[in-house]
Amino acid sequence: MPDTFVADNKCVTVEIDADQIAWITLNRPEKRNAISPSLSNDMQQALDRVEHDEAVKVVVLTGAGDAYSAGMDLREFFRASDNLTPEKRAAFGRSSSWQWRRLRYFLKPTICMVNGWCFGAGFNSMIACDLAVAADEAQFGLSEINWGMIPAGNVLKNVCSVMNQRDAMYYTITAETFDGKKAAQMGVVNESVPRAKLKDRVREIAKVLADKNVNTMRACKFAVKRVPEMSWDDADD
Ligand code: ACO
Repeated sequence: MPDTFVADNKCVTVEIDADQIAWITLNRPEKRNAISPSLSNDMQQALDRVEHDEAVKVVVLTGAGDAYSAGMDLREFFRASDNLTPEKRAAFGRSSSWQWRRLRYFLKPTICMVNGWCFGAGFNSMIACDLAVAADEAQFGLSEINWGMIPAGNVLKNVCSVMNQRDAMYYTITAETFDGKKAAQMGVVNESVPRAKLKDRVREIAKVLADKNVNTMRACKFAVKRVPEMSWDDADD
């Protein structure tokens, strides 16, 4: 029997299956899984739930319905440049924390399963995961310019860490969308497969990761993330 967990606001669900994979689902399909303050609170709970649970070897992030995530909730959220109350500033911090730093340095291996639309801030958690596999049919877009803003610094830092400069510039200043196949070709995701085969392929990869030594896995993934920012001498040390 899978172990299931539904966070307080029901914006995130977790299923831990017999293969010790935790499937974390962004669960606002009616809003295309846009990131609201409630979803961020729920995601923190979900990540807490799986990070130290020995029954979990690998974490997969995905979205309910047709979207991975339509980015920040443009109705419920606010801009960093707004005159924010302390409560809003705290909500902003919680939102930014799970989407980037928390996932980037998550203790377990993580895979983003991009099942559909992935816009704006949706890129953050997708790239912060160790691996990403997309449906061929998924559509990606850095649409911020159309909303009168730039992709937040950590979104662009993430984007520029996987795309080359020409592609990063092109998709940031045109806001043109691209599909899963193109995302794989540019290295934004590891690979793309037809949507009908997406879950099976992700499960296959997750099972390979689940078989590795937990501590060596952690050391390897942190090294891959940190070494590019080190000098040769620091990396050698
Ligand atoms: N914020 C808030 N609500 C959203 C968002 C969002 N980012 N994206 C979709 N929704 C809501 C819509 O307002 C609509 O709500 P309603 O039914 O109450 O009117 C519902 O989700 C469904 O949206 P549709 O547009 O009808 O869905 P469709 O499947 O036709 O299109 C798509 C999906 C392409 C994702 C479209 O919703 C879209 O373009 N969304 C905006 C994407 C975007 O630009 N995000 C912002 C990036 S910038 C950033 O993250 C900082």
